[in-house]
Amino acid sequence: MQDEVTLGPVGEQHLTVIERIMTDPDVMGPFQWYGWRDPSRLRRRWADSGLLGDDGGMLIVLRAADVLGFVSWRKIVTSMSSHCWNIGIALLPEVQGNGHGTQAQRLLARYLFAHTQVQRIEAETDVDNVPSSAPWRRPASAARGSCADTRSASAPGTTPPCTPSSATKPPDRRPA
Ligand SMILES: CC(C)(COP(=O)(O)OP(=O)(O)OC[C@H]1O[C@@H](n2cnc3c(N)ncnc32)[C@H](O)[C@@H]1OP(=O)(O)O)[C@@H](O)C(=O)NCCC(=O)NCCS
Repeated sequence: MQDEVTLGPVGEQHLTVIERIMTDPDVMGPFQWYGWRDPSRLRRRWADSGLLGDDGGMLIVLRAADVLGFVSWRKIVTSMSSHCWNIGIALLPEVQGNGHGTQAQRLLARYLFAHTQVQRIEAETDVDNVPSSAPWRRPASAARGSCADTRSASAPGTTPPCTPSSATKPPDRRPA
């Protein structure tokens, strides 16, 4: 069970690693670096809510006691009476490529389907970000085509393509 990936609430002891991931362009990589942000914002949000709110949240990704990275989700309003979750993930470079990202995204989708009312979970990723889009190529997920994403980390003024993907709630899933 040492290799098993788990998710949990972010504790104060995890904040340094999350800050490292979020504030280092080399760690975030070419697809997830959005520029310098207020460095104290994470700790303020953690002190305020534990990074768990009604409109989104963040969980730490662990393997035993080792911090691998984090997963997050945010609310996307889809109609006057419904919403879905858009999820994200970032792992430390030294643990990437071992299947942990796939496991963590699967665990997050199960968690959100089990504990919230949404029927759909989606993600957007640059078309060239192969590790990020891999879990969404599985059965029960669907790639929805491509769109222009101006938030992506590429040359100023360009609108590189991204791939939105989604998974719908399995009909017989029981709360985990
Ligand atoms: C995206 C990310 C979470 C993926 O996690 P990971 O643990 O590295 O990925 P996995 O080991 O689970 O691999 C997923 C798939 O990508 C493939 N893959 C992994 N690294 C790869 C690489 N460098 N090049 C090509 N394919 C790769 C794996 O073979 C696997 O494919 P398969 O399921 O078809 O066998 C991680 O790379 C990361 O944190 N990247 C930086 C932040 C980021 O881009 N986040 C996503 C933004 S949408």
